[in-house]
Amino acid sequence: MYNSNINHCMAKFIVFGNQKGGIGKTTLAVLTATGLSQDPFNKKVLLIDNDNQQSAIRLRQYDNEHYEEEVPPYFIKGMTYQKIVESIKDIDQEYDYVFIDTPGKLDHNLPPEQQEVTKILLLTDFLFMPFKGGALNLDATTDYVKILLKAQKHRAETDRPLNIYGVLNFYKERSRINRELKEELEYLKKHAGLEFLNTPFKQYVAYEYIDTYKSMYDKKSLEPAKKNYTTFLNEFYKKTK
Ligand SMILES: Nc1ncnc2c1ncn2[C@@H]1O[C@H](COP(=O)(O)OP(=O)(O)OP(=O)(O)O)[C@@H](O)[C@H]1O
Ligand SMILES: [Mg+2]
Repeated sequence: MYNSNINHCMAKFIVFGNQKGGIGKTTLAVLTATGLSQDPFNKKVLLIDNDNQQSAIRLRQYDNEHYEEEVPPYFIKGMTYQKIVESIKDIDQEYDYVFIDTPGKLDHNLPPEQQEVTKILLLTDFLFMPFKGGALNLDATTDYVKILLKAQKHRAETDRPLNIYGVLNFYKERSRINRELKEELEYLKKHAGLEFLNTPFKQYVAYEYIDTYKSMYDKKSLEPAKKNYTTFLNEFYKKTK
């Protein structure tokens, strides 16, 4: 299935992926894309909405009505896998970061021609897996991670490796779940060899009301959500540089 025509070398292709629904894939993709497109990063960013639910596109439509006078800091486009492949050369040259927001389910059990999400993995340079503490079905998660690691192994022999990191989302300090979470993370590290980012995305109301225009990056802010966001984005940037 590995097709050299779809190779790219300039832009970084990034997916927040997990087989679970409602785990923050779209939220983290939009937040990160919004941050990298503005100060102090100022990257050329494209967010591809590959989900039929069109969450990112609808968010942008809403924002366009509320930020009438302003130019959006980055593009959000709805695209199928086929469409992405057709325009991969242009996308690759035009952008620094390309985020692809995919539907939740992994489709490796479907016939090959329907494996949209699996095929998108072939284009991906960095896969970030959002996790929520206490809600893991560890065996299912481990299976998913193992499939990813298999893809990673295959890609290690090519000139474009697949980097995979876990990201804690909905993290709450001092919650009882954190004790279980520690055990879960150790399990995943041990059984699947999955590396996690140091900075978790905490659970904040500010992350429920994101928009696609304004970055929350602010080194001086004492607001907890902005502080968390700034620390996360710095680590994300370092990992993907
Ligand atoms: N760190 C967070 N703090 C607070 N709310 C969050 C956080 N992350 C996500 N949410 C909220 O959780 C809900 C689900 O998030 P989101 O839509 O990003 O998940 P998803 O994985 O993209 O879901 P789907 O599988 O349906 O595509 C949303 O209402 C979002 O606002
Ligand atoms: Mg989503």
